[in-house]
Amino acid sequence: MNYRAFITEQVAALRRQVGNNIAINALSGGVDSSVVTVLAHRALGPQLKTIFVDNALMRDGEPQRVVKAFRSMGIPVELIDARQTFLKALQGITDPEAKRQAITDTFYRDVFAQAVQRTRATFLLHGTILTDIEETVAGIKRQHNILAQIGIDPQQAYGYQVLEPLATLRKDGVRRVARLLGLPKSITARIPFPGPALAARIVGEVTEAKLATVRAATALVENELRNTDAFQYLAVLLNDYATGIRNGKREFGQIVVVRCIDSVDARKATVRELPWATLRRLSRRITALPGVNRCLYDLTPKPPATVEYI
Ligand code: XMP
Repeated sequence: MNYRAFITEQVAALRRQVGNNIAINALSGGVDSSVVTVLAHRALGPQLKTIFVDNALMRDGEPQRVVKAFRSMGIPVELIDARQTFLKALQGITDPEAKRQAITDTFYRDVFAQAVQRTRATFLLHGTILTDIEETVAGIKRQHNILAQIGIDPQQAYGYQVLEPLATLRKDGVRRVARLLGLPKSITARIPFPGPALAARIVGEVTEAKLATVRAATALVENELRNTDAFQYLAVLLNDYATGIRNGKREFGQIVVVRCIDSVDARKATVRELPWATLRRLSRRITALPGVNRCLYDLTPKPPATVEYI
């Protein structure tokens, strides 16, 4: 594919499709939504309203970091604080699919619908890529960002029309386009991060306390493994507890799993054989987090495991 031509065509198509109307898009800081934001900003300028929704499930400092990166490229991004709305919607939910559904519904029906009304946008731009469509249609995963493909009419369900300018590209193509658009390496080379964010890494109910733990563990893992060239690395908080000893006292503590995988496109994955010293350091740092007294390294490839835990 000629990616320069792709950019020119998509910018022209967005102008044609949106016309004099307002388009809105949600930026997550991932490469897909970042590319959509830059393409659409080129095509639509002030007719584009880009929002970043803080859903309480992001990594440490992520909302502020992403908004700042785009503002420094001259692209205004509105930061919407929806933390309490999401936390409330997730209260008491333990089933993985129900959690994903609650996040989707809260995002589209509550937070996004309000932003659409306020900005009077009639078009929603979405960073759906070809793999999302294929995996959803094949029933491998209900990707949070697929609507039309699974029979939900967004016009009827949520009141707007969806445009998906990246629907013909796979991840490597999106990265090529991102580089051509001049996006920084922190975005083009970013490791994958799931749509349901840290909620995909908490087994059981999502609470503020558990989010704080998995967020801190995630920061430790990302810091420690940043210089590996692994495809993806993450921390997961289990719903089980184990006995431990801290300061001479027995305690029933939380368990964090570290996962580090090699993969081409996340359809299959093998486990990275990390040096023992790295694992030991990770274990020591993670078990220094309040309430956590065990750290496990996940040795399971995909399949049979998936990358995420929900
Ligand atoms: P799984 O857990 O299905 O993950 O083996 C495969 C890859 O996809 C990412 N992932 C998601 N990405 N929305 C996304 O945008 C999601 O709902 C989602 N679930 C998983 C995961 O991080 C891995 O790279």
